[in-house]
Amino acid sequence: MTAKNDGRIVPADPCCFVVFGATGDLTHRLLVPALYNLAAGKLLPEAFSIVGVGRGEHTTDSFRDGLRKGLETFATRKTEPEVIDRLLACVSFVQGGPEEPGSFDRLRDKLEAIEERRGTRGNRLFYLATPPTAFAPIARALGEAGLARQEERANGGDGPWRRLIVEKPFGTDLASAQALNRELLAVFDEDQIFRIDHYLGKETVQNIMVMRFANGLFEPIWNRDHVDQVQITVAETLPVGRRGKFYDATGALRDMVPNHLFQLLSLIAMEPPSRFESKSVRGEKAAVLDEIQAIGPEEALKNSVRAQYLGGRIGEEDVPDYLATPNVKPDSTTETYVAMRLAIDNWRWAGVPFFLRTGKGLCARSSEVAIKFKQAPLAMFRRTPVEHLAENFLTVKIAPEEGISLQFNAKVPGPTVNLDGVHMRFQYRDYFDIAPSTGYETLIYDCMIGDAILFQRADAIEAAWRAVQPFLDAWKEAGADGLASYRVGSDGPEEAHRLIGDHGRRWRPIE
Ligand code: BG6
Repeated sequence: MTAKNDGRIVPADPCCFVVFGATGDLTHRLLVPALYNLAAGKLLPEAFSIVGVGRGEHTTDSFRDGLRKGLETFATRKTEPEVIDRLLACVSFVQGGPEEPGSFDRLRDKLEAIEERRGTRGNRLFYLATPPTAFAPIARALGEAGLARQEERANGGDGPWRRLIVEKPFGTDLASAQALNRELLAVFDEDQIFRIDHYLGKETVQNIMVMRFANGLFEPIWNRDHVDQVQITVAETLPVGRRGKFYDATGALRDMVPNHLFQLLSLIAMEPPSRFESKSVRGEKAAVLDEIQAIGPEEALKNSVRAQYLGGRIGEEDVPDYLATPNVKPDSTTETYVAMRLAIDNWRWAGVPFFLRTGKGLCARSSEVAIKFKQAPLAMFRRTPVEHLAENFLTVKIAPEEGISLQFNAKVPGPTVNLDGVHMRFQYRDYFDIAPSTGYETLIYDCMIGDAILFQRADAIEAAWRAVQPFLDAWKEAGADGLASYRVGSDGPEEAHRLIGDHGRRWRPIE
């Protein structure tokens, strides 16, 4: 059992935090602010050290200065100078990368010197905050330099640990995800690999499991007998902007569905794990992803809508057409919006449609999972003015609102029987003090204490890609055929309304 699961929050194990891509955006915007928050919360070990590895021309001093500036801009809380000084005092920099094998020898020497000096006990966390093309080469170079092995541990001992955090995107399709898993597993064991999806760092996402399994009232109705449909929406107002190069090669489906939306789907749809520990939880999540119905190309086209936005105004901003975005090919068929219907082939969910949608440049930022329960029969109200019943939605709000809401029918006060739909709303902020965070704190801390619950296992990643592969294949084959469009600031393309309408349902408003 981990320190966290037995209720005590204690500082993480002594260790060296080695970050590849040390001078990049992710390190400055998210990782170092998250380490700062951990330090301020006294969750970093006394014996701790940060080693940045990058190609840039840096000395330890100039690297440290860059991190300090980054913290000034990106810290999520008011910073305390002593905490910053303590955190940055343990920073050093190694110049290099996998194309320069000698740099891994330098890294090893540096780590050994630090371990000797600071007593980090040989525990090493390697964080791949680089572009994805560098993931496998870095893992290989770590292996070749003898930095990945943790023999004494593998043999049941309590020797030093070596762990690898891998960022998203993990592959671009099933074959590349499998290949990346193979490459990593040739060097590290599965239990050394921590594949990140930052959605699992969100409290509201973690709370889905608690809501379902720590309460007696949801589970008995959480099935095809009572649930009519599930809608998962991640709507963003931001257009593609300066991310044209990355986005045009990626698209909404790859960017969001097999990772973030499927995290939500698997937590909502999984069977109850027998224990709150990583083997059980990750096993159930992987199982339900594996049960997403396998479909052919025709079915994939029929059950999906992809679209690109057309320019317009969002708030005060004039947004160009997606195709006029810098670094986007003028004839690109990359989608900025996707909607799809999925089915899950098991007894719990047979016949219950799962509708998913996500897109850029939409009318509001809103991430939620909504479970619609079957209607009550209207029969009892036949002799009253009631003509229809409001829908019973249980909605888990992930962003920007954080909470849970339940929609149900209530009587309108007065002498006649009239009904109206009302909401019962739980909002996190009404009950708990939530210190603003980057969302990476728990993930980094969990990796340092060896708790993998919030990380993705190889089989779950592959099951997710397997489920979306028919859509990728069918769209590639179709080219521009069937690519729809929508205006920025709208709620998406008309075709998406038709997709859900054909199944007798309606999307919830994006608001
Ligand atoms: C990232 C995607 O993984 O998630 C971005 O690459 C997207 O395109 C982001 O905007 C959404 O994350 P969040 O936490 O803002 O919902």
